[in-house]
Amino acid sequence: MKFKMAGMIPAKEKSAIVILGASGDLARRKLIPALSVLREQELISKDSIIIGEGRSDFTDESFRDRFEICGDFREQLFYHQGIDGMKEFIKTKGDFKKIIAFLSLPPSSYSSTVEKLYNEGFREEVNIVIEKPFGRDYKSAHELNESIHRFYPESQIFRSDHYLAKEAVQNILIFRFANSIFEASWNSTYIESIQINAFETIGVEERAGYFDQAGSIRDMVQNHLLQMLCLTTMDPPVSLDPEDIKSQKINILKAIEIEEISRGRYDGYLDEKGVAEDSDTETWAELKLKINNHRWAGTPVYIRTGKALDRKGTEIGLRFRKRPHALYNPPAGTAPNEIIFKVQPSEGIILQLTGKNPGMELQLARTDMAFCYNDSFAGNNIPEAYQKLLLDALRGDHTLFVSAAETELAWKKLQGLPKTVGMIEYEKGTVPDSVFGDIWINFENYVGIC
Ligand code: NDP
Ligand code: BG6
Repeated sequence: MKFKMAGMIPAKEKSAIVILGASGDLARRKLIPALSVLREQELISKDSIIIGEGRSDFTDESFRDRFEICGDFREQLFYHQGIDGMKEFIKTKGDFKKIIAFLSLPPSSYSSTVEKLYNEGFREEVNIVIEKPFGRDYKSAHELNESIHRFYPESQIFRSDHYLAKEAVQNILIFRFANSIFEASWNSTYIESIQINAFETIGVEERAGYFDQAGSIRDMVQNHLLQMLCLTTMDPPVSLDPEDIKSQKINILKAIEIEEISRGRYDGYLDEKGVAEDSDTETWAELKLKINNHRWAGTPVYIRTGKALDRKGTEIGLRFRKRPHALYNPPAGTAPNEIIFKVQPSEGIILQLTGKNPGMELQLARTDMAFCYNDSFAGNNIPEAYQKLLLDALRGDHTLFVSAAETELAWKKLQGLPKTVGMIEYEKGTVPDSVFGDIWINFENYVGIC
């Protein structure tokens, strides 16, 4: 069945999309399938071409055979070995006003690749998409930004954070700023804590070589979790101009202070292929932060993420403070209200309330108001994050990409964290006990709702 993706604005220009590192995992699993859908949905011009690049030796045919694609899309997919000669190669395929260069490469080669693109003659016609991780600390991210800016201005650089392109993450700002009922309570007077989870069931799989150098804090917290926190807590932007949104996110990043941190590692991690024998890398991290600004001082933020846990799920929860005087169920009062943004696996926004159980007696019960994408938008296909990112890069829209300043500030916040935080071991398929005690929202309550 052919779904139409609602609300996606097509990139009309005839473009050449170059995937650098096209023999890799990301290109195979995400990028080429995303482009195939965009092409099928006519969201990119039918005359656009896709060129896989790499050091490996492929013909167009043997490269095409790596993917499950057919028809026109297959014919528009080409392979070119190396960056030298790429410009001429593109010319032989037609006249393309817009070029996308997607760096799906090991991060160590970002800087030299950008220089090669420049030396090959790519100028203002190119938008360069750079995958995460962008640096491994403040210094390396800053140096990388400087080296890139020697060749291309910020307006041509698109730093990818695919969480920003997830439907439910995009909805955070709309939910907050298109509805007038939330703003008055969106502050420390009413919100007791903010909590974010990003749980995965998979371990490091084939990516141990990369992950063992990074760990959960660099891999997930510095980017995906801090970005979601920014969207949840930032002040309203003056307009929807990407610059205005980014400047509000930057204000949050400036105000963040990490207070406590705990790390963990699943049993058997050290036996994974590609993990160093003496590895000190965490596969689980739990952090307590504060946001030192007028709106949020007094509301702690808890975030946790890990691999090989009991379920896949990303949620953002805001727990409201209880009323100071308990009219019902005194003296403890009723359960605190909670708002949950379910980012994945099934998207939705849930408001947890207390109501009266029907009957003669006054009995209170927890109940939920749920807006579930599956119900509200049944029949609408939810685009995969990379479809949205690729389309926006083609259209030159920076909204869902991360600026140089954001990425540097996020790294700065992780700087100076105690290097020797202990390492708890946890069994695969379980969630380690929290070092913060009984503070967590019971997110499991919401799993089956949407
Ligand atoms: P890979 O390690 O599979 O590398 C991609 C390709 O880059 C390789 O196939 C190889 O192609 C080429 N390459 C390898 N080493 C070098 C080098 N030193 N110089 C130039 N080219 C090189 O990476 P992934 O595809 O897994 O990921 C690509 C990028 O995306 C990485 O930065 C990763 O961190 C990021 N990312 C990946 C995710 C994933 O799920 N895979 C998720 C989020 C981010 P060849 O040998 O043909 O040149
Ligand atoms: C990537 C991390 O950025 O996000 C991976 O490098 C992680 O380690 C992945 O598995 C999770 O993404 P998603 O979309 O599956 O939640």
